[in-house]
Amino acid sequence: MSKQFDVIVIGAGPGGYIAAIRAAQLGFQVACIDEWTNAAGGAAPGGTCTNVGCIPSKALLQSSEHFEQANHHFAEHGISTGTVKMDVAKMIARKDNVVKQNNDGILYLFKKNKVSFFHGRGSFVKAVEGGYEIQVAGKAEETLTAKQVIVATGSSARALPSVPFDEVNVLSNDGALRVGAVPKKLAVIGSGVIGLEMGSVWRRLGADVTILEGLPTFLGAVDTQIAKEAKKAFDKQGLKIELGVKVGEIKSLKKGVSIAYTNAKGEEVKLDADKLIVSIGRVPNTNGLNVEAVGLQLDERGAILVDGDCKTNLPGVWAVGDVVRGPMLAHKAEEEGVAVAERIAGQHGHVNFNTIPWVIYTSPEIAWVGRTEQQLKADGVAYKAGSFPFLANGRARALGDTTGMVKFLADATTDEILGVHIVGPMASELIAEAVVAMEFRASAEDIARICHAHPSLSEATKEAALAVDKRTLNF
Ligand code: FAD
Ligand code: NAI
Repeated sequence: MSKQFDVIVIGAGPGGYIAAIRAAQLGFQVACIDEWTNAAGGAAPGGTCTNVGCIPSKALLQSSEHFEQANHHFAEHGISTGTVKMDVAKMIARKDNVVKQNNDGILYLFKKNKVSFFHGRGSFVKAVEGGYEIQVAGKAEETLTAKQVIVATGSSARALPSVPFDEVNVLSNDGALRVGAVPKKLAVIGSGVIGLEMGSVWRRLGADVTILEGLPTFLGAVDTQIAKEAKKAFDKQGLKIELGVKVGEIKSLKKGVSIAYTNAKGEEVKLDADKLIVSIGRVPNTNGLNVEAVGLQLDERGAILVDGDCKTNLPGVWAVGDVVRGPMLAHKAEEEGVAVAERIAGQHGHVNFNTIPWVIYTSPEIAWVGRTEQQLKADGVAYKAGSFPFLANGRARALGDTTGMVKFLADATTDEILGVHIVGPMASELIAEAVVAMEFRASAEDIARICHAHPSLSEATKEAALAVDKRTLNF
């Protein structure tokens, strides 16, 4: 006997669980299906983000940053510690606990919002009168039916051809987050977001880290000036980043791996490492959904084909998050989830793709919203730029962290903010002001005229806005 719902959500990552909660708030009977299982065999909703992504990576970034501070920066404050030791097992256990708190939090939210949760794999069976039949296989064995289905099955790490992840020597993000001891030598392929964040974690803890990047430019999607500043900081920290390499054969050694590559000068190089992290992008999860049963269309990348409103080719079937086009970010998935639930309710859900912030949680942090200087040039937009260095910010000096800057890009005629780019302390938090400003289509002058608390890092934002009009006060 099939259980009837108004809305079935497949996947309980940030796209799916948020969509389920919003749909329930709007008065629908909602089921959410997720197959993620923790080490104890229990349900672990929250998807990649909670289990092997955003949350655990930030937990390890925090632990390793404390270690780095204690080792290299406490002395400046007059604090002497003696030898600082890292208990990796304890750090990983703390991270696992942070993950568990988030898993449990989502289960609590499902209860609170009366979302029926099913632990298992969801797949399409067939279209039925007025909706779709979905099978749940796993811990919960059920057949569910609903008029509306939201697919939010996320993504998985892309492996190099013929180098599968064994999570012992060749690690995806999953293995990279549970290495049992600090590797002496760590190689990373892909100098994107994961490569830099995970490379930073293990470098801070003492690993000799080499990142091999295929492209000749460092962080090509980031504003060039900001990327240059970040690269300078990473070089100084001893994070070795080789650009423009061509990775060749990867062999397993008795202990670790050997990576053959051609460097940018065309020289053949061999790099032996205890562990290798492969972070070369992610692929959408559509395996096991049985899309053929209902004729759900995929695009050429294997993502579910959707329009700007997350509608698929099938009436009543929607898809959100990493499994569709667009940036693979948790907050983008969440916004799409909310918008879809509201569209199902006949409201006008909306996601502004122009104001989705990006953050790379390295030290210094890198954050941006809107267009980069190189994009504005390519688009032929006349713009004004203004920047302000943290070196001239009192709070940054007091913190002892004066790396980087805030940079504003504004329309040359209207002064509307077109992009804000930050590299430096707490960039992840500072970017929120820029997002709000851009959502309200503020001008650089608007930010320049707003009172910012003193002393605060946010004064660098105000000063960068003033710099657009060449009238900084403290630089
Ligand atoms: P997911 O989070 O992948 O969730 C999909 C869920 O669906 C999973 O639980 C999966 O098990 C389940 N599922 C799949 N198929 C089925 C099925 N057939 N039946 C039942 N369940 C199924 N983004 C940020 O914004 N900020 C960050 O700091 C950040 N850090 C990251 C760090 C790392 C190491 C990684 C790998 C990613 C990071 N991301 C970050 C990206 C972020 O994790 C993803 O963009 C986000 O999780 C996408 O959400 P989603 O709901 O679309 O999919
Ligand atoms: P990515 O797309 O950020 O970076 C992949 C890098 O690998 C690119 O620089 C690419 O040029 C390079 N590359 C690809 N193939 C290669 C090859 N064969 N040899 C050498 N280099 C190669 O992907 P990543 O780091 O795997 O992360 C996946 C996604 O997860 C990100 O795009 C992001 O959306 C999300 N994420 C977000 C985070 C955040 O918001 N802070 C943190 C971590 C991940």
